[in-house]
Amino acid sequence: MIVLPQLLFLFQSLPVEVPIKQFNEWNRTISRFIWQNKKPRIRYKTLCLPRDKGGMSLPCLENYYKAAQLQYVVYWCKEDYDAKWKELELNQLDIPLQPLLGDKTLKTIYSSKLSDLTKIPLNIWFKEICNSNLERKARLLRWVEHDRDFRPAQLDMRFKELTRKGITSYCLISSDTGLDSFQQLQENHDLDKKDFYRYLQLRHHFDRNIRILKEGDLDLIDILIDAYKGKIQRKVVSRLYLCLQLYKKLSTSYVKCNWEREANIILTEDDWLNICEINASTTSSGQWREFAWKNIIRFFITPRRKYLQSGRTESGHCWRQCNNVMAGHCH
Ligand SMILES: *[C@@H]1O[C@H](CO)[C@@H](O)[C@H](O)[C@H]1NC(C)=O
Ligand SMILES: *[C@@H]1O[C@H](CO)[C@@H](O)[C@H](O)[C@H]1NC(C)=O
Ligand SMILES: [Zn+2]
Repeated sequence: MIVLPQLLFLFQSLPVEVPIKQFNEWNRTISRFIWQNKKPRIRYKTLCLPRDKGGMSLPCLENYYKAAQLQYVVYWCKEDYDAKWKELELNQLDIPLQPLLGDKTLKTIYSSKLSDLTKIPLNIWFKEICNSNLERKARLLRWVEHDRDFRPAQLDMRFKELTRKGITSYCLISSDTGLDSFQQLQENHDLDKKDFYRYLQLRHHFDRNIRILKEGDLDLIDILIDAYKGKIQRKVVSRLYLCLQLYKKLSTSYVKCNWEREANIILTEDDWLNICEINASTTSSGQWREFAWKNIIRFFITPRRKYLQSGRTESGHCWRQCNNVMAGHCH
């Protein structure tokens, strides 16, 4: 709790690439501190999970770093966010920077002209988009004029004009139900009647190549779309962080499996999450919460485990002298 804000401040202020080696080292330092140089009894990855999923909410510094860098990408898309740095960054190419977010090839084309300041967030962005399988959905972030797959925009100079009228990103002129109607665009963006044919071209392209079915969880693309639509106000970094954590697909299912094996029962995923959640929220005593957590996460060294480790029969006896041998976690 003390270290995180200090590092976060650096992550947000310094446009540097932090090598993976450094995160490894921090991971090791933190782990050594938690376990006081003894052998870790619970996976580090498990500790990083949120409490209601059976973890200890230990911050993942790597994702905080990424979230801090991606924050700037969010501000690029947020029209009402004004800053000197933003103008400098957005005007370094002969096209705006935002369309790059939806098209990796476009970014590669301009790659050599980008400053380090923008290259780092962009690289992180594309890596995360790829990891979380969002490349298709990212097309929503392309701009009509700069969409390389939309031929009419390259042939017809009128689309430049339309950009000026606010026909920029697909996500701004569409909703879950599809591209906005011509009437809507006419009202909001002052289109001419003679643009109707271009609208049909655009809608055809949108329905075939851009449109995507709405899916459940909040993801990185949603955050940028919210930014475009002026919806995000605060807590950008923590929203980004949550999304990044979600994609790691970590879970405590392996602990659940151990319980199932030991008790010879079947627990559904919901049962298990319920147990974790209840244990994390039942009592206001931190000490008891920790104890409950240690129980369900199988932290303690049972007589059985002791016996298996040492091979001595007497270590398999329950320490409360109830004559139980080889007691496991259920005991
Ligand atoms: C550090 O720990 C986090 C949390 O489990 C993990 O996701 C990350 O990959 C680790 N970083 C490195 C560089 O190993
Ligand atoms: C933790 O979960 C177990 C299993 O559901 C339950 O028996 C126990 O009462 C819970 N402990 C707390 C403190 O909520
Ligand atoms: Zn006993």
